[in-house]
Amino acid sequence: MIAILEIQDLHVSYRSSGGGLCPALTSVSFGLMPGEIMGVLGESGSGKSTLAGSLVRLLPANARITRGAVQFEGTDLLRANADELRQIRGRRISLIFQEPSLALHPTMRVGEQVRQVLAAHDSLGKGALNEQTRQVFDQVFPEEPDRISHSYPHQLSGGQRQRVLIAQAIACGPSVVIADEPTASLDPTTQMEILGVFRNLREKLGLAMIFITHNPALLCGFADRVLVLYAGKVAECGSAETVLASPRHPYTKALFHSIPTVFDRPGNTRKTKLPAILGDSARSLPIRGCPFEPRCTEKMDICKEREPAAVNLSASHTVSCFKYES
Ligand SMILES: Nc1ncnc2c1ncn2[C@@H]1O[C@H](COP(=O)(O)OP(=O)(O)OP(=O)(O)O)[C@@H](O)[C@H]1O
Ligand code: SF4
Ligand SMILES: [Mg+2]
Repeated sequence: MIAILEIQDLHVSYRSSGGGLCPALTSVSFGLMPGEIMGVLGESGSGKSTLAGSLVRLLPANARITRGAVQFEGTDLLRANADELRQIRGRRISLIFQEPSLALHPTMRVGEQVRQVLAAHDSLGKGALNEQTRQVFDQVFPEEPDRISHSYPHQLSGGQRQRVLIAQAIACGPSVVIADEPTASLDPTTQMEILGVFRNLREKLGLAMIFITHNPALLCGFADRVLVLYAGKVAECGSAETVLASPRHPYTKALFHSIPTVFDRPGNTRKTKLPAILGDSARSLPIRGCPFEPRCTEKMDICKEREPAAVNLSASHTVSCFKYES
């Protein structure tokens, strides 16, 4: 099968106020298959939003894409002109931003907000626009499409507002949706509901999805593959089943150990402290060697000397760590 979106050797930096370039993504490569859900995991500052924004060229003004290619349906999005990008953004690839509370207009009914997305991309007549808006609400709010469509954002719960953003993202029938921490501000039950909505849409519409999160638990039973970013580099990438069940990179292992387990029995009053990953990626990046070395509990002498290359553990599982180099 051919990837629908192919990210090749992507390098992105931010220009600092002093004029220097600070790398945010280095040599990121992966392919997204049609209909696939790729979970992108990493702690704060690891480059997840930079990755999301780079794919559709929606980055802060001081960002510089310095190398790489993003191939989508025969076009390199990094070299596409403004017209080509307009044809693709929202229509073929949609991005759901990290801050849902800022994304909706507070004094406009949400149905109208979805209708405006459709009107901006398609030259449909009034009747067709209304019909298509209704169909989108039927898909995302099958229980009560009309009530939600006529509501203002403040009349909806956080989960319902998030679903409106999903409705906007799928309105024009994209084949790829990039969702940047779409459930971060929701309670666990609502998070699961939103994952259910995404799963449904994937099944019905065949959407491929890049689902960004810092919470590995959300990817269990949801993502097909998992890509772990550390300090803007790919630490590990493989099938969700493999990476979530037996992570190999020391960072992935530490990340998984630092979240609460959900299978403690009721009444279990265990007082074990969750292990934290000591240090901070922003402050402890070494000048050379493995980027995770200052925080790694499995480091070796070589880890300070040079950076590990990606090692193929299988045809679909790569890890950037000297422990696996032969
Ligand atoms: N506008 C900017 N100017 C300068 N540096 C930036 C800018 N935006 C992001 N960065 C830096 O780029 C790196 C990656 O940031 P990014 O926002 O992509 O991380 P993230 O993984 O999305 O984090 P979070 O989980 O907090 O959303 C960080 O070191 C961050 O400080
Ligand atoms: S290369 Fe070395 S420092 Fe880096 S993750 Fe592997 S063992 Fe740890
Ligand atoms: Mg982010």
